Amino acid sequence: MKRKLYLETFGCQMNVLDSELVLGQLRAHGYESTEDRDRADVILYNTCSVREHAEQKVWSRLGELRPQKQQRPELVIGVIGCMAERDGVDLFRRYPHVDLLCGPGELDKLTQLVHNAVVTGSDRPRQTALMGSNTRRSATLAAAEDNLELLDLSRSINSEDDVAQAYVRITRGCNKFCSYCVVPYTRGPEVHRPPQNIIDEVKRLADVGVREVTLLGQTVNHYHFRHDDGRQTTFAQLLYDIHEAVPHLPRLRFVTSFPRDFTNEALAAMRDCPRICRYLHAPAQHGSDRILKSMNRGYTAGQYYDFVDRAREMMSDISIASDFIVGFPGETEDDFELTMEMVRRCRFKNSFIFKYSPRPGTVAIDRFVDDVSDADKRSRNNRLLAVQQEVSESINRQMIDQTVRVLVEGESKLVSRQAANTGKVELGWEKRPVALAADETQMVGRTPGDQVVVFSGPLSLKGQLVDVRINGAKNLTLFGEYCGSKSPRQTSSITAGSTIAHSV
Ligand code: 5AD
Ligand code: SF4
Repeated sequence: MKRKLYLETFGCQMNVLDSELVLGQLRAHGYESTEDRDRADVILYNTCSVREHAEQKVWSRLGELRPQKQQRPELVIGVIGCMAERDGVDLFRRYPHVDLLCGPGELDKLTQLVHNAVVTGSDRPRQTALMGSNTRRSATLAAAEDNLELLDLSRSINSEDDVAQAYVRITRGCNKFCSYCVVPYTRGPEVHRPPQNIIDEVKRLADVGVREVTLLGQTVNHYHFRHDDGRQTTFAQLLYDIHEAVPHLPRLRFVTSFPRDFTNEALAAMRDCPRICRYLHAPAQHGSDRILKSMNRGYTAGQYYDFVDRAREMMSDISIASDFIVGFPGETEDDFELTMEMVRRCRFKNSFIFKYSPRPGTVAIDRFVDDVSDADKRSRNNRLLAVQQEVSESINRQMIDQTVRVLVEGESKLVSRQAANTGKVELGWEKRPVALAADETQMVGRTPGDQVVVFSGPLSLKGQLVDVRINGAKNLTLFGEYCGSKSPRQTSSITAGSTIAHSV
């Protein structure tokens, strides 16, 4: 009988992809996944350490599992991902009922660790695979990278999976060492995957019907691969190569971009390739030069503005999103005002806003006092959010009366619950109940610029690229009317304010 595996994922897209890969490997070794944690033989948490809040969620899950483990000592509990790497064996001291730890740079070993834990029964020795401070950073790095590359290459791609979107890693790790961030310590140094492996993977995904591939890297635009003969493939070249080699992929995107590394060549590739979405997630983090310096971001606010200007000069319709940290040590009201100004001037499509969270092991926690009170952090978070909401709503309102091409992700969750109860739905932007036709529901999808669109249509549209005419807008959502799908080649889609001959 197959053993049942429960895997819960926290954090970024990189973790989502890692979970998909390890799940594929474990399935191939006789495990089947279950949604029911209480009936699982193996419970794994793929964790995030970027803020304390993300770790607290996992601590509480692990706390809940104590009684279960007492009742069923043969149950295997594992922590994988960034928390495993950051906490290391200390985690066993706090949670002695955890059996297994595996860092994100060691996931190629996970199947073996799980197998060892399962076969050794309740007296099992603890299983760990952690990068630590010097093992995989030294002479063994090349061999380790080969194994991690094999994990990426092991991805099972099946036509029955029926998924419209997929992630493809292009770079592992990060070398930036922003002073507040744990990622360079948990995911290790930056390593770029061979371009042919990336192209082959994108092609295999498109062959089975995937409509949108998102290339992943912590600093995705920093991609550069040195071939044995000395040739280099840059990020711009990789974009051109994928676009040309996989003409049947309707949409290609990438996250997350590091603003300083954005070359004009990469922007030109976005401009020249119609199936690359004109969307950039390029976190600014702050608007004050003083704070950017203590964050070790390597650019000034002026340089960030120049980057945004350059991008908009080359593509007037580009949609740009950012991340910001409020309450970084030493941040004054004047510093914070510069962040507010940046959001107003750059007109971000949206911003992810975070309160500074001191992380053990980072430079910032050692060097700076966390001197902004939680009340100030909260107030700045709310004020910045309010400004961003105004900007987002004004960008979204410009879309009214335009027709956009939407990749349909599925049924809108909120609305489907309402409809189940009442048979009617209330459209959020005008609070008007709308009766749905028998074969219709509220569907949700995204534009090439990553704007969320809600519209009425049949469930069968899931995974399709369709045209929607926008007739309402809120800060987070566009509302519209389904126009029917046409061949992408014959349609000109409209993004963020101007008509372009796009097939995405
Ligand atoms: N505190 C708060 N936010 C952080 N981020 C990264 N580290 C921290 C931290 N210590 C945010 C950054 C990054 C996003 C993924 O998380 O804005 O872009
Ligand atoms: Fe963290 Fe900075 Fe690397 Fe992003 S670029 S993962 S914020 S160290």
